[in-house]
Amino acid sequence: MHPIRKAVFPVAGRGTRFLPATKAVPKEMLPLVDRPLIGYAVEEALKSGIEELIFVTAPGKEAIVQHFTADQDLVRELDRTGKSALARAVENDTLPRERLHSTIQQQALGLGHAIWCARHLVGDEPFAVILPDDVVMSQRPCIGQLIEAYGRVGGNLAAVMDVPRQDTASYGILDIAEDNGKLARARGLVEKPRPDVAPSTLSIIGRYVLEPSIFAELDKKVTGAGGEIQITDAMAKSIVHTPFHGVRYEGIRFDCGKKEGFLEATVAFALNRPDLASTMEDILLSYTGKYRTAAE
Ligand code: G1P
Repeated sequence: MHPIRKAVFPVAGRGTRFLPATKAVPKEMLPLVDRPLIGYAVEEALKSGIEELIFVTAPGKEAIVQHFTADQDLVRELDRTGKSALARAVENDTLPRERLHSTIQQQALGLGHAIWCARHLVGDEPFAVILPDDVVMSQRPCIGQLIEAYGRVGGNLAAVMDVPRQDTASYGILDIAEDNGKLARARGLVEKPRPDVAPSTLSIIGRYVLEPSIFAELDKKVTGAGGEIQITDAMAKSIVHTPFHGVRYEGIRFDCGKKEGFLEATVAFALNRPDLASTMEDILLSYTGKYRTAAE
C-alpha cells in the first residue's frame, strides 16, 4: 500500500455564516482559544505522518499560508523578552516552505471541485483530505485513524458518525452493505438526503483518504446536491472499481462551520487546557448560576 504523504485542505470558502468576522479574516483563521482552526487541522495531519500540505484557497485568504511561514524576528523577540512558551507556540505553527503548497479555486463550484483543483499537486498517489471546519478532539489524530484503516482495506475512506435522522440533510450519508461496528463498507453514498429518504444515519465528517482515481471521476464535473460538484458523488460513482469504507473514529467532533459548534468547541478546548480549565469552569458556573436566578 502506498504511504499517505500529502493532505489537501479545502479552504476557499467565503465563511458567510461568520460574517462580519470573516469579511477580512479567513474563517480558518478564527481562533479556538488562541490558535486558528487551521492550526489544529495542520497539527492533526503532521501527527499522522503527513509530509506535504496542500491548501486549496481563494484570493484574499493569503493569511492562511502566511500563518505557517517562519517569522524569526517575532520568535527572537519573544525569546529575548522571556516569553519562551509563546515563542514555541509560534514555532509550532511554522513549516518549511517546501512542505507548503497552495492553489487557487477560482470559482466556488463545490467540495469535489475544490479537491479536483489540487490534482496536479497531489499527482498519482493516495492522499488525505481535511476540512478544517470539522475539529476532532481525540487521543489519536482522526486522519491518522483513517490512514491506519487505509493500510488494512485500501480504497476510498471517510470518517463517519451516527447522527439523529432529522440531521441527514446536512451530511453525506452511507448506504451500508456491511458493518462491523468499526468499519462500514458502503454500496452507495448520498449527499445530504432528506431524513425520510436517507439510506441510513451514518454520516461523513470532514476527513477522507482518497485514491488518485477519484480525479478521473471529478474530471467529469457532474453536479449534484445544491448544484455543486460533490466529493460524495465521486466516491459513490467510484464504488464499482474502488471500495468505500466509513471509519467510526474515536474522538469528539465539533462542527466549527456553525456558530453553535464553534462556541461549544471553544468551551471544550478551554476546559482541556491546564492553564485555563479552572477559570473556564468558574466562568461557566457563574453564568449557569445567573441563568437559574433569572429564571426563578
Ligand atoms: C461537506 C460534505 C458532506 C460532509 C460534510 C462534513 O458538506 O459535502 O458530505 O458530510 O462536509 O462536514 P458541508 O458541510 O461542506 O456542506
